[in-house]
Amino acid sequence: MADPVTPRPRLATRMAGAPESAIGSVLRLGDRTDAISLAGGLPASEALIAAEVAAAMSEVLAGAANGLQYGETNGLPELREWLGRRLLTERGIAADAGGITVTHGSQQAIDLVCKVLLDPGDVVVVDRPSYLGALQVFRLFQADLRQVPLAADPDLAALEEALRAGLRPRLLYLVPSFANPTGATLGDGQRRRLAGLAERFDFVVVEDDAYGDLWLDDGGAPGPAIASHTDRAIHLGSLSKVLSPGIRVGYLHAPATLRQPLRLVRQASDLGNSDLLQRAVLILLTRDGYLDDRLGSLRARYRHRRDALATALRQHLPDAEFTVPAGGFFLWAGFAPGVDAGDLLPSALAQGVSFVPGEHFYVSTPDRAMARLSFSGLPPERADTAARRLAGALAARPRPSAAVTVSR
Ligand SMILES: Cc1ncc(COP(=O)(O)O)c(C=O)c1O
Repeated sequence: MADPVTPRPRLATRMAGAPESAIGSVLRLGDRTDAISLAGGLPASEALIAAEVAAAMSEVLAGAANGLQYGETNGLPELREWLGRRLLTERGIAADAGGITVTHGSQQAIDLVCKVLLDPGDVVVVDRPSYLGALQVFRLFQADLRQVPLAADPDLAALEEALRAGLRPRLLYLVPSFANPTGATLGDGQRRRLAGLAERFDFVVVEDDAYGDLWLDDGGAPGPAIASHTDRAIHLGSLSKVLSPGIRVGYLHAPATLRQPLRLVRQASDLGNSDLLQRAVLILLTRDGYLDDRLGSLRARYRHRRDALATALRQHLPDAEFTVPAGGFFLWAGFAPGVDAGDLLPSALAQGVSFVPGEHFYVSTPDRAMARLSFSGLPPERADTAARRLAGALAARPRPSAAVTVSR
């Protein structure tokens, strides 16, 4: 409870545009011990690598460079070199270690990029719909957010029209592969076109490749990164989904002109990642066959989960509309024609299942029919129960649908 005698300090003006994260309220599932969350978007808990990380950390601690000293602000040089080689082979980016900054997840990379490039009121274009965590950062930087369909627009006609009409973004942010929340992936033509538009209209593309390694069907690797086509792009990546989010290792690759400013803001922010964890991560990544094996097993695990959820939805919610995503963690679905996903949530929570209503991924005029269902944390044997509960929520909802406001 607020202390009545202590006035709350005046908050910075940037806080005005930053409402509490929607996810916090959505994740509250009450006291049900058998609740099923399709809301979180977390890696499967069975896929976290406690034993491997513990062994690698012990190895580091026992060595001469025991990882307990301050490290380089931009990250462990050997890890940056490894990341640079991988960006070249897997994403086609002519990356060098000097252009790479190791960050605390790709989330921090978004924050650092904003610190370097955004003034209050600057225009930032984001996909429609868009990753909520990025919207939060842009709002804190008091950006003028404009949401334009990108992945869903094969020719990027809407973006080009807006640019021709005078829109002048500083940044364009998107998740090019297996996006959060839609699961959509930009094709090669769209990537090239975006690179061309960035050059022509002088904006920086921030491509957040958090799910790029997680294609779930054979031959489903996404095409070369946007940053392979232009030096107007900053490429963000993360080991959160590939290893474990708790190690907080992500990275960015920036063009030469932005490296010095990025180093400066990084230094001021937190002086860099844990040397110990970076060294431990490097041991795992450079172990013969480790990463390939791990990616293979993750893809199989998430494919199984995705397919189990899609099958259960088809069976229990025959009117649901969704496209099975080719990768990532999320299925973007409408439950039934005319159903507002936000209205449905309270009954779903009462039935013991949660999801994130799609409205939270929009800056304005949300598509209220859609919901983000995360399959990554859903054991396949629970998919049927999850879908049954959603169907139960649909059956139990008041008609005509009375507006139930979800606290934000
Ligand atoms: C698109 C996207 N970007 C960034 C993040 C943040 O990930 P991390 O900071 O753990 O790398 C997430 C997390 O779910 C995400 O979905």
